[in-house]
Amino acid sequence: MRIGVVGTGSVGRVLGSRLAEIGHQVVFGSRTPSAGRVEGIVTATGHGVSAGLPREAAAESEVVILATPWHGTETAVRGLGELGSRVLVDCTNPLLTDLSGLDHTGGRSGGEQVAEWAAGGRIVKAFNTTGAANLADPAYGEQRLVMPLCGDDSDANAIVADLARELGFEPVACGGIGAASLLENLAMLWITLAHGQGLGPQVGFALLRRER
Ligand SMILES: NC(=O)c1ccc[n+]([C@@H]2O[C@H](COP(=O)([O-])OP(=O)(O)OC[C@H]3O[C@@H](n4cnc5c(N)ncnc54)[C@H](OP(=O)(O)O)[C@@H]3O)[C@@H](O)[C@H]2O)c1
Repeated sequence: MRIGVVGTGSVGRVLGSRLAEIGHQVVFGSRTPSAGRVEGIVTATGHGVSAGLPREAAAESEVVILATPWHGTETAVRGLGELGSRVLVDCTNPLLTDLSGLDHTGGRSGGEQVAEWAAGGRIVKAFNTTGAANLADPAYGEQRLVMPLCGDDSDANAIVADLARELGFEPVACGGIGAASLLENLAMLWITLAHGQGLGPQVGFALLRRER
């Protein structure tokens, strides 16, 4: 699958490199694709990845992964141009700058705000509820971390669930984009446990099921 990854920070790098490793055609979307830092990421990642401007990466891709800091997300999303039927995977968390909570302006989750800013596209919230180290390695012994996701288009949700499964997560669909606030609050809980309560980043959420 052709996948554009917008943002070359912790999340973009780990998802881009892992998706490339398992055979997807990845293009990083960076504000400075020719900068030495980004060229270094491309070289270090290998597996045929390339880099372009975010709009170019989106245009080339079927799935666009959004991994930008919240303060830059509206500009980034509006800059992607017309998305048509592309799947836009919103990995962001609308964190307040002091990390004390979530910017749910007007009662709208980050995922809902992203959906408003995007020109078209099928928006799926995912990959936001755990840390970058867990995105790199979701296996905890025999158990896999859960990857909650939500969006209004069930086909798009299924595409993202497949990607999450390929990366080693147990995907679980949580409903339409209205459920994004739940995922963002779950991310806030993870941040609180890992960083606020000192559990560290090597913790994550799993979904247990009783046989019936
Ligand atoms: N870090 C985590 O463990 C984690 C886990 C789950 C979700 N998240 C969420 O995922 C998103 C990305 O997190 P991250 O840790 O990867 O962020 P990060 O390391 O700060 O990287 C974000 C990337 O976004 C791009 N960008 C676009 N507009 C920007 C702007 N105005 N200012 C700065 N950078 C901008 C930059 O790439 P270019 O310079 O190449 O454009 C930058 O490298 C955030 O919303 C975060 O809350 C983070």
